[in-house]
Amino acid sequence: MRGKLITTLDTALDFALHLPPSDAAGGLDQDEEWCEVTIDDERRRIRLHDYAEIFGVPGLYERLFQESLECDSPRVVGDLLAEQLGENGIDPARLTALDFGAGNGMVGEVLDDLGVGAIVGVDLLEEAKDAAFRDRPGLYEDYHALDLTALSEDDRSDLAEHDFDLMSCVAALGFGDIPAVAFAEALNFVSDGGWTAFNVRDRFFEESDPTGFGGFLRRLFREGALEKRAQVRYTHRVSVDGEPLRYLAVVANKQGEIPMDWAAAA
Ligand SMILES: C[S@@+](CC[C@H](N)C(=O)[O-])C[C@H]1O[C@@H](n2cnc3c(N)ncnc32)[C@H](O)[C@@H]1O
Repeated sequence: MRGKLITTLDTALDFALHLPPSDAAGGLDQDEEWCEVTIDDERRRIRLHDYAEIFGVPGLYERLFQESLECDSPRVVGDLLAEQLGENGIDPARLTALDFGAGNGMVGEVLDDLGVGAIVGVDLLEEAKDAAFRDRPGLYEDYHALDLTALSEDDRSDLAEHDFDLMSCVAALGFGDIPAVAFAEALNFVSDGGWTAFNVRDRFFEESDPTGFGGFLRRLFREGALEKRAQVRYTHRVSVDGEPLRYLAVVANKQGEIPMDWAAAA
């Protein structure tokens, strides 16, 4: 295992970050968490799931999630993937990855460190794409800001031009972020036998999940559309209240086309 990943951006951090005091932080659900940021003497509140706002402030994503809330998921998922590729004699340099929910490129950077041959980013937000080019220029061979639940024919042919054999998706599943239909679409751009590496909050795998995403994931494994190769339970990050958020990192192989009606039913 490598050491904890600390990304150093070549960016002067021009803000002060304030996490909520414990009386305000206690009891906030993961989807309700917030922080405050002071820029040029102006202090404003930002929800932790408001990625467009967060990516708008250079260095804030890393300062907030990686440093203050100790998010280690890109490294954990990357290590699990590296282990599996190694055990199966796969040369990362031969892989083309679709990094789904790519944000400003922390996972792309891990894949690049593993030696993955080509990496293409996909994210819903134009702000994420801009931040990836700003923070990690040259990392992604290509980056598409688009909605995989509403692909145009042009989007489809752009993505299909890449022969993806790996799809990563880190810190973007559950909480209504990436829906089942988008996850299935992304997987279907990956060739059969290709790899996926993702993480998800443990409760989405283990309990009934009102968004339906967990049921969809469990079905992918139960019915053999994905074959699980490795899974590890770990702390994704701490909450603003300091509580560990337990996630599962999963590496799997795609066995065949993912039926879109399973996703639509989720
Ligand atoms: C917490 S960030 C994770 C970024 C990166 N994977 C990482 O680990 O640092 C979540 C990302 O998922 C993206 N996202 C949320 N919903 C999405 C959707 N429906 N389709 C594509 N991306 C989405 C957000 O825009 C954001 O960039």
